[in-house]
Amino acid sequence: MTDSRLAVEQRARDGISNAVELVDVCCAYRTAHGQDVRGLNGCTLAIPMNSSVAVVGASASGKTTLLKTIAGLRPVDCGHLGFPGYGDKRPADAIGVMFQGSSHFPWRTVERNLSFRLELAGWPKAERQRRAAELCQLVGMEPTVYLRRYPSELSGGQLRRMELAMTFSAVPRLWLLDEATTGLDFLARQDIQKLIEAMMLQSGITTLMVTHDVPEAVRLADLVAVMSGGRICALVPINLPRPRTAGGLPGLEADQARLVDQIVVLMRSAMGEATRCD
Ligand SMILES: Nc1ncnc2c1ncn2[C@@H]1O[C@H](COP(=O)(O)OP(=O)(O)O)[C@@H](O)[C@H]1O
Ligand SMILES: [Mg+2]
Repeated sequence: MTDSRLAVEQRARDGISNAVELVDVCCAYRTAHGQDVRGLNGCTLAIPMNSSVAVVGASASGKTTLLKTIAGLRPVDCGHLGFPGYGDKRPADAIGVMFQGSSHFPWRTVERNLSFRLELAGWPKAERQRRAAELCQLVGMEPTVYLRRYPSELSGGQLRRMELAMTFSAVPRLWLLDEATTGLDFLARQDIQKLIEAMMLQSGITTLMVTHDVPEAVRLADLVAVMSGGRICALVPINLPRPRTAGGLPGLEADQARLVDQIVVLMRSAMGEATRCD
């Protein structure tokens, strides 16, 4: 039995409510040339309610597929995917997803990107505009300056802020972030990490974030899940005080560095010995 399967059962015994549970989930792709590719291969993971879980792993280990499967964008071919924290039904209208790469509409202004989901949900125009301004403010962008701009008129960090705000438009209960800081410069990455932590702490939202940046995972998550070959191979709880992105907390840097080292060793061993996951 895998460590992560044990963790699912342990939490159930402890009475901790999981927002999302996957047990032995498989998800396959078929390429245009008819080749079958395993995206998930017996993936077991529990995401406790109101916690943040970071998934780390080498490229092609299945991180994005995991996120898409939870979001309902990929079918489950075998195993069980449940949402016990939400009455076992996927909270489809309350999932905020930030996809890997671009997650916005270049031809819409910031205001109309922020209100896109609200348009779909039939919100009246005045309400949409009020919410868009609120969201802009939430992510630290002055509405009077930015609402009328187009995405091409924003910096990389501002674009990421807008995309994070888009995921919050319909007040999500489950937040799925795929490489939210990838491609940003060092300072912008720090700022976005700080923003993500602040938004998590403020809303108490259940979060699954995919990242290949191990220090980021340790900074933001309550639990780091190491993924390899389409499954979770190891879990590392991060029991450090928050906020962790502010800096200056005595001892935190050393504790974070120790956990980063531990996770990197687990990732290397998972890559080298995929069979250890069995
Ligand atoms: N649309 C697709 N069609 C076929 N194979 C895919 C598709 N998307 C992903 N894959 C394959 O599934 C595996 C997992 O991919 P992915 O979940 O994107 O990994 P990660 O996010 O960890 O880099 C990889 O081998 C990848 O090539
Ligand atoms: Mg990916």
